[in-house]
Amino acid sequence: MRIMRAAFASRFDAADPLAALTVGEQPEPSLPDDDWVTVRVTASSLNHHDLWSLRGVGLRAEQLPMILGCDAAGVDPDGNEVVVYPVVPTPDDPRGMSILSEHRPGTLAERVAVPRSNLLPLPAGLAATDAACLPTAWLTAWRMLTAKGRVDEAEAVLVQGAGGGVATAAVALAVAMGRRVYATSRDAAKRTRIAGLGATAVEPGARLPERVDVVIETVGAATFDHSLKSAAPGARIVVSGATAGHEPKVNLRRVFAMQLEILGTSMGTPGELTELLAFCAERGVRPEVDSVVPFSRVADAFARLHSGDVFGKVVVDHTA
Ligand SMILES: NC(=O)c1ccc[n+]([C@@H]2O[C@H](COP(=O)([O-])OP(=O)(O)OC[C@H]3O[C@@H](n4cnc5c(N)ncnc54)[C@H](OP(=O)(O)O)[C@@H]3O)[C@@H](O)[C@H]2O)c1
Repeated sequence: MRIMRAAFASRFDAADPLAALTVGEQPEPSLPDDDWVTVRVTASSLNHHDLWSLRGVGLRAEQLPMILGCDAAGVDPDGNEVVVYPVVPTPDDPRGMSILSEHRPGTLAERVAVPRSNLLPLPAGLAATDAACLPTAWLTAWRMLTAKGRVDEAEAVLVQGAGGGVATAAVALAVAMGRRVYATSRDAAKRTRIAGLGATAVEPGARLPERVDVVIETVGAATFDHSLKSAAPGARIVVSGATAGHEPKVNLRRVFAMQLEILGTSMGTPGELTELLAFCAERGVRPEVDSVVPFSRVADAFARLHSGDVFGKVVVDHTA
């Protein structure tokens, strides 16, 4: 059995997820089927999902140790540079699928195993460290705006919690698509930065100059009422996360009177990731990168995400 370096959950700690993180040696992932291959990871990025895993959300104790990480760019066995689509078939999950690090070892390691069909070519001109931001947070934002939010029918978009990975992606993509974009943040410095991406930045709960057709919700309880109040008749409120609580009070009168659609979504399809990669490569859109941390300091990358201070994606460079 070959050994590799990896960042993994060795236990759960709901109060202090960083204490549950171990950086050390793990066996290389096995290949469950003939059509699976091993990719040498060159770059990965962190998601809030990794902190949830360390807290024990979505994992069972018997699955430990679990290598973390959903996102990767790397090199396939034939030497091609690839982006890894992170949703893998999982017969023993009720959904029939799972995201890397939920059942199968994740990307925060020297190598990751996935079905060959999960590998997409790295587009020319896109750095591996940028591509590694796209398969989870950016793919989620892409689907929230396109298939779910029907942004092509929209004039204005509201993005709640402007500093997060999904939120910065949604702002950058919606601006590139030519929409008027409003973004909320509790933090003045983040509001300045999101304005730099082309959004009108406002404080959480602030009245907008117009009602919007699409709301991008990843914050949850803290912002949901504002999302409802800011929605134009027939608007789509698309939810892919609930960082600040998943049981908001919902004014149903507003939902039916304004004929709002509240839509849940998770990740996206390989075809949507292909579209997103092409959109970024062709339109010059690049992910907002908070920081690039060498794998040798991966624990610092987790601490940075946990601090809540991030703006954009925390990337891990596996070549350093
Ligand atoms: N379903 C999927 O496929 C999918 C994919 C990726 C992520 N997600 C989920 O989406 C959520 C966002 O993840 P992320 O990694 O993009 O970002 P994140 O690190 O969870 O942060 C999102 C934003 O939430 C805001 N926030 C946090 N606590 C808050 C509070 N108490 N009150 C108001 N705002 C608060 C912050 O905004 P400000 O500091 O700017 O105010 C922060 O920038 C997570 O829950 C994640 O699990 C889901």
